[in-house]
Amino acid sequence: FDTADFGRPGIFRSLVDVKQGEINRRIYSSPEVYKIEQQRIFSRAWLYVGHESQVPNPGDFILSKMGEESVIVARGNDHKVSVMLNSCRHRGMKVCRYDEGNTKRFYCPYHAWTYGLDGRLIGVQDYRETYVPPFDRGEWGLVRARTASIRGAIWATWDDGAPDFDVYLGEAKDVMESAFRPVDGGDGEIEVLGGVQRWRVNCNWKIIAENGSGDVLHAISHASVDMAGINPSEGEGRRDDAGQFVLSTHPEGHGFIYTKWPVGKERVEFRRDPVVSAWFTEKWRLRNERLGSNAGVWPLLGTIFPNMSFHCQQPRSILVSHPIGPEQTEMWRVYFVEKDAPEEVKQFLKRYYLSYSGPAGMTEQDDMENWQYATNGSLGTIARRYPFHYKAGMGQEGRDDQIAGTVTEHPIGSEQNPRSLYSKWAELMDSSDWDELLDRRKAGE
Ligand code: FES
Ligand code: FE
Repeated sequence: FDTADFGRPGIFRSLVDVKQGEINRRIYSSPEVYKIEQQRIFSRAWLYVGHESQVPNPGDFILSKMGEESVIVARGNDHKVSVMLNSCRHRGMKVCRYDEGNTKRFYCPYHAWTYGLDGRLIGVQDYRETYVPPFDRGEWGLVRARTASIRGAIWATWDDGAPDFDVYLGEAKDVMESAFRPVDGGDGEIEVLGGVQRWRVNCNWKIIAENGSGDVLHAISHASVDMAGINPSEGEGRRDDAGQFVLSTHPEGHGFIYTKWPVGKERVEFRRDPVVSAWFTEKWRLRNERLGSNAGVWPLLGTIFPNMSFHCQQPRSILVSHPIGPEQTEMWRVYFVEKDAPEEVKQFLKRYYLSYSGPAGMTEQDDMENWQYATNGSLGTIARRYPFHYKAGMGQEGRDDQIAGTVTEHPIGSEQNPRSLYSKWAELMDSSDWDELLDRRKAGE
């Protein structure tokens, strides 16, 4: 391949050969592919930007990212949340340089253009004297994204032609409903625990997204965590090993692992701390009461296409892999907890979560090492002539009456979730807009 090849129709579906289960390594290392991803994936897809508990009051804001670009997530006086490009319309200065806070307006430090909480341009220096005739300030507000939310999780897209968020999620909507609910399965609120951990890893963002979508085969990487007993079940295997795993794949590119915890089997979390353990036992009692035989069928983790990965059970968290370059990704990880949990439980979980994942956490350090070498292994002149192998579990996919999507039960170590993620990636990369993608799907291409 040379650079010109990336303009050929259908090129990305040929690089990602999901029928054969082989993927060309250039998609992880080529600067051209990376540039096209910014235009065709990150400018078009629905992207996770934050949680409402981070902006509870009018005037509250956080900074987030959509692809490479900084965005402001702010709550207006009407309580509505807006997502806006953090770039002044005058000369591009960042109008907000704080990670979070509360404000009445966003004031550009360069030439003092001032924007409201919804991005409207409300103040321009010497407006009447300088601009004769006056220009229409209504047309020069911050660039606003389309937004949607599901149980407090906020998503945004730049693309007016993108399908509605519900359609984009498809059957994965139920998974998101479940992911942002308390352990007891009720309607209580959950909130971000502590701040956002942000750090950079020298790897391609897709390696993280596919790992997060349900890479059951990589459990071996975390053997030392199991041996050390640093997990909710303390030395009896990670909690997820104790139930049955089921992989679930969706045509929209989303993939999950569910656990099926046997009905009636006792579940003890964090036995070393009686207060925390008792708190979880009570939550599980309520969950069983509420959900009956479905109580133990629960998404464990997964990825919503393209780059939002989550853990639903302990440690409950979200990891967004923001691309920085073909070989670098900025990771943003946050943890969640029941809003009404006792302070002692919150503090315990915070310490546990930080030791489990995040830049100082044991499992994330195992994973980062793998991801960096995998990206590096896509760079060599000889190495990149040879595709990666994604054939695990091909032809073994089935259905499950309790779990939506195409499913495979572990211990078949299926790579169906990465195959689906890359398939959607290639479809978007090969389409000039969403309509073309949907037409092609209809035509069965
Ligand atoms: Fe913002 Fe000039 S760049 S006012
Ligand atoms: Fe891992």
